[in-house]
Amino acid sequence: MLFIRRFIQNPRSVGAVAPSSKWLASAMVAPMAWPAGRVRAAHIVELGPGTGSFTRAIAERLGPDDRFLGVELEPIFVDTLRRRWPRLEFVCASAESLRALVSERGLGPVDHIVSGLPFATLPADTTGRIVEAIAHALRPGGTFTTFHYLQSYGIPPAVAFRRQMTSALASTPSMRFVARNLWPALALTWVQQASSPNP
Ligand SMILES: C[S@@+](CC[C@H](N)C(=O)[O-])C[C@H]1O[C@@H](n2cnc3c(N)ncnc32)[C@H](O)[C@@H]1O
Repeated sequence: MLFIRRFIQNPRSVGAVAPSSKWLASAMVAPMAWPAGRVRAAHIVELGPGTGSFTRAIAERLGPDDRFLGVELEPIFVDTLRRRWPRLEFVCASAESLRALVSERGLGPVDHIVSGLPFATLPADTTGRIVEAIAHALRPGGTFTTFHYLQSYGIPPAVAFRRQMTSALASTPSMRFVARNLWPALALTWVQQASSPNP
Protein backbone atom coordinates (compact mmCIF):
# COMPACT_ATOMS: atom_id res chain seq x y z
CA MET A 1 0.00 0.00 0.00
CA LEU A 2 2.87 2.35 0.85
CA PHE A 3 4.35 1.69 -2.60
CA ILE A 4 1.10 2.39 -4.45
CA ARG A 5 0.52 5.58 -2.44
CA ARG A 6 3.98 6.91 -3.29
CA PHE A 7 3.50 5.90 -6.94
CA ILE A 8 0.26 7.89 -7.16
CA GLN A 9 1.96 10.93 -5.62
CA ASN A 10 5.18 10.66 -7.62
CA PRO A 11 4.80 8.33 -10.65
CA ARG A 12 7.90 9.35 -12.64
CA SER A 13 10.28 8.92 -9.75
CA VAL A 14 8.76 5.80 -8.12
CA GLY A 15 8.26 4.29 -11.59
CA ALA A 16 6.35 1.13 -10.52
CA VAL A 17 2.97 0.27 -9.01
CA ALA A 18 4.34 -2.59 -6.91
CA PRO A 19 7.64 -3.80 -5.47
CA SER A 20 9.65 -6.28 -7.58
CA SER A 21 9.12 -10.02 -7.10
CA LYS A 22 11.58 -12.39 -5.43
CA TRP A 23 12.20 -13.92 -8.87
CA LEU A 24 13.33 -10.59 -10.31
CA ALA A 25 15.36 -9.98 -7.11
CA SER A 26 17.25 -13.22 -7.55
CA ALA A 27 18.00 -12.40 -11.22
CA MET A 28 19.28 -8.99 -10.08
CA VAL A 29 21.78 -10.40 -7.58
CA ALA A 30 22.85 -13.44 -9.66
CA PRO A 31 25.76 -11.58 -11.35
CA MET A 32 27.37 -10.59 -8.03
CA ALA A 33 30.37 -12.92 -7.70
CA TRP A 34 32.43 -13.28 -4.53
CA PRO A 35 35.72 -14.78 -5.73
CA ALA A 36 37.15 -17.56 -3.58
CA GLY A 37 40.20 -16.44 -1.63
CA ARG A 38 39.41 -12.74 -2.01
CA VAL A 39 41.55 -10.49 0.12
CA ARG A 40 39.15 -7.67 0.84
CA ALA A 41 35.49 -7.15 1.67
CA ALA A 42 33.03 -6.61 -1.19
CA HIS A 43 31.61 -3.10 -1.59
CA ILE A 44 27.99 -3.10 -2.75
CA VAL A 45 25.75 -0.13 -3.62
CA GLU A 46 22.01 -0.30 -4.26
CA LEU A 47 20.30 2.60 -6.04
CA GLY A 48 16.54 3.11 -5.55
CA PRO A 49 15.92 0.25 -3.09
CA GLY A 50 12.28 1.33 -2.52
CA THR A 51 10.88 -0.98 0.15
CA GLY A 52 13.73 -3.48 -0.18
CA SER A 53 12.88 -6.26 -2.67
CA PHE A 54 16.46 -6.38 -3.94
CA THR A 55 17.94 -5.40 -0.55
CA ARG A 56 16.60 -8.63 0.95
CA ALA A 57 18.37 -10.72 -1.71
CA ILE A 58 21.59 -8.71 -1.33
CA ALA A 59 21.51 -8.92 2.49
CA GLU A 60 21.30 -12.73 2.28
CA ARG A 61 24.62 -12.75 0.39
CA LEU A 62 26.58 -10.21 2.45
CA GLY A 63 29.48 -11.55 4.53
CA PRO A 64 30.33 -10.02 7.93
CA ASP A 65 33.03 -7.73 6.47
CA ASP A 66 31.22 -6.71 3.28
CA ARG A 67 30.04 -3.12 3.03
CA PHE A 68 26.66 -1.95 1.72
CA LEU A 69 25.13 1.44 0.96
CA GLY A 70 21.50 1.96 -0.18
CA VAL A 71 20.68 5.31 -1.86
CA GLU A 72 16.95 6.15 -1.89
CA LEU A 73 15.19 9.44 -2.64
CA GLU A 74 11.88 8.86 -0.81
CA PRO A 75 12.20 9.55 2.95
CA ILE A 76 9.34 7.20 3.85
CA PHE A 77 11.05 4.32 2.03
CA VAL A 78 14.32 5.13 3.79
CA ASP A 79 12.55 4.90 7.19
CA THR A 80 11.12 1.52 6.21
CA LEU A 81 14.50 0.22 5.00
CA ARG A 82 16.28 1.34 8.17
CA ARG A 83 13.66 -0.41 10.30
CA ARG A 84 13.90 -3.63 8.27
CA TRP A 85 17.71 -3.77 8.04
CA PRO A 86 19.08 -1.79 11.02
CA ARG A 87 22.63 -3.04 10.37
CA LEU A 88 22.76 -1.82 6.77
CA GLU A 89 23.42 1.79 5.79
CA PHE A 90 20.76 3.74 3.87
CA VAL A 91 21.03 7.36 2.86
CA CYS A 92 18.16 9.60 1.77
CA ALA A 93 19.70 11.20 -1.33
CA SER A 94 19.65 11.19 -5.10
CA ALA A 95 21.75 8.64 -6.95
CA GLU A 96 23.10 11.67 -8.85
CA SER A 97 25.32 12.32 -5.81
CA LEU A 98 26.76 8.78 -5.83
CA ARG A 99 30.30 9.99 -6.44
CA ALA A 100 30.34 12.11 -3.27
CA LEU A 101 28.48 9.48 -1.21
CA VAL A 102 31.05 6.81 -2.13
CA SER A 103 34.01 9.11 -1.62
CA GLU A 104 32.82 10.38 1.82
CA ARG A 105 32.61 6.78 3.07
CA GLY A 106 35.79 5.48 1.47
CA LEU A 107 33.58 2.95 -0.28
CA GLY A 108 35.31 3.09 -3.66
CA PRO A 109 36.06 1.29 -5.81
CA VAL A 110 32.65 -0.39 -5.75
CA ASP A 111 32.38 -4.06 -6.77
CA HIS A 112 28.67 -4.27 -7.61
CA ILE A 113 25.92 -1.71 -8.15
CA VAL A 114 22.32 -2.95 -8.23
CA SER A 115 19.72 -0.45 -9.40
CA GLY A 116 15.94 -0.29 -9.18
CA LEU A 117 15.92 3.25 -10.62
CA PRO A 118 13.21 3.86 -13.24
CA PHE A 119 15.51 4.95 -16.09
CA ALA A 120 12.59 4.78 -18.54
CA THR A 121 10.84 7.64 -16.75
CA LEU A 122 13.64 9.71 -15.18
CA PRO A 123 14.54 13.05 -16.83
CA ALA A 124 17.37 12.66 -19.37
CA ASP A 125 19.77 14.97 -17.52
CA THR A 126 19.24 13.04 -14.26
CA THR A 127 19.96 9.76 -16.08
CA GLY A 128 23.11 11.28 -17.61
CA ARG A 129 24.49 12.33 -14.22
CA ILE A 130 23.72 8.92 -12.68
CA VAL A 131 25.38 7.01 -15.55
CA GLU A 132 28.51 9.14 -15.17
CA ALA A 133 28.60 8.59 -11.40
CA ILE A 134 28.19 4.80 -11.79
CA ALA A 135 31.02 4.61 -14.33
CA HIS A 136 33.24 6.55 -11.97
CA ALA A 137 32.46 4.46 -8.87
CA LEU A 138 32.69 0.94 -10.34
CA ARG A 139 35.99 -0.95 -10.30
CA PRO A 140 37.25 -2.60 -13.51
CA GLY A 141 35.45 -5.96 -13.70
CA GLY A 142 32.71 -4.73 -11.34
CA THR A 143 29.06 -5.13 -12.36
CA PHE A 144 26.11 -2.82 -12.82
CA THR A 145 22.68 -4.51 -12.89
CA THR A 146 19.33 -2.88 -13.56
CA PHE A 147 16.02 -3.90 -15.10
CA HIS A 148 13.48 -2.75 -17.65
CA TYR A 149 9.86 -3.81 -17.81
CA LEU A 150 9.27 -5.59 -21.11
CA GLN A 151 6.78 -2.96 -22.31
CA SER A 152 9.20 -0.10 -21.70
CA TYR A 153 12.30 -1.78 -23.16
CA GLY A 154 11.92 -0.09 -26.55
CA ILE A 155 10.84 3.39 -25.51
CA PRO A 156 13.32 6.17 -26.36
CA PRO A 157 14.49 7.04 -22.79
CA ALA A 158 15.20 3.36 -22.06
CA VAL A 159 17.07 2.94 -25.36
CA ALA A 160 19.04 6.15 -24.70
CA PHE A 161 19.91 5.00 -21.17
CA ARG A 162 21.25 1.63 -22.41
CA ARG A 163 23.30 3.35 -25.11
CA GLN A 164 24.84 5.71 -22.54
CA MET A 165 25.60 2.90 -20.11
CA THR A 166 27.16 0.75 -22.86
CA SER A 167 29.39 3.65 -23.83
CA ALA A 168 30.29 4.61 -20.23
CA LEU A 169 31.23 1.06 -19.16
CA ALA A 170 32.63 0.03 -22.57
CA SER A 171 30.68 -3.24 -22.55
CA THR A 172 27.38 -4.63 -23.80
CA PRO A 173 24.82 -5.94 -21.30
CA SER A 174 23.90 -9.55 -20.69
CA MET A 175 20.18 -10.14 -20.14
CA ARG A 176 17.91 -12.39 -18.11
CA PHE A 177 14.17 -12.55 -18.77
CA VAL A 178 11.94 -12.78 -15.67
CA ALA A 179 8.28 -13.63 -16.36
CA ARG A 180 7.17 -13.85 -12.73
CA ASN A 181 7.04 -10.15 -11.93
CA LEU A 182 4.50 -7.35 -12.23
CA TRP A 183 5.35 -6.63 -15.08
CA PRO A 184 7.58 -9.21 -16.78
CA ALA A 185 11.05 -7.73 -16.92
CA LEU A 186 14.56 -8.00 -18.32
CA ALA A 187 17.46 -7.84 -15.86
CA LEU A 188 20.48 -6.28 -17.58
CA THR A 189 24.10 -6.52 -16.41
CA TRP A 190 27.11 -4.57 -17.65
CA VAL A 191 30.67 -5.41 -16.60
CA GLN A 192 32.93 -2.37 -16.20
CA GLN A 193 35.57 -2.49 -18.95
CA ALA A 194 36.38 1.21 -19.15
CA SER A 195 39.55 2.36 -17.45
CA SER A 196 37.86 5.07 -15.40
CA PRO A 197 39.32 6.79 -12.31
CA ASN A 198 37.83 5.55 -9.05
CA PRO A 199 37.15 7.76 -6.05
C1 LIG B 1 10.78 1.18 -9.62
S1 LIG B 1 11.06 1.60 -7.90
C2 LIG B 1 12.05 0.17 -7.46
C3 LIG B 1 12.02 -0.15 -5.99
C4 LIG B 1 12.65 -1.50 -5.63
N1 LIG B 1 14.04 -1.56 -6.01
C5 LIG B 1 11.90 -2.65 -6.28
O1 LIG B 1 12.38 -3.12 -7.32
O2 LIG B 1 10.84 -3.02 -5.76
C6 LIG B 1 12.24 2.93 -8.08
C7 LIG B 1 12.81 3.48 -6.79
O3 LIG B 1 13.84 4.43 -7.13
C8 LIG B 1 13.72 5.57 -6.28
N2 LIG B 1 14.34 6.72 -6.96
C9 LIG B 1 13.87 7.40 -8.03
N3 LIG B 1 14.74 8.37 -8.41
C10 LIG B 1 15.80 8.26 -7.56
C11 LIG B 1 17.04 8.96 -7.44
N4 LIG B 1 17.36 9.96 -8.28
N5 LIG B 1 17.90 8.60 -6.46
C12 LIG B 1 17.60 7.58 -5.61
N6 LIG B 1 16.43 6.89 -5.66
C13 LIG B 1 15.55 7.22 -6.62
C14 LIG B 1 12.21 5.69 -6.07
O4 LIG B 1 11.91 6.47 -4.93
C15 LIG B 1 11.82 4.21 -5.93
O5 LIG B 1 11.95 3.78 -4.61
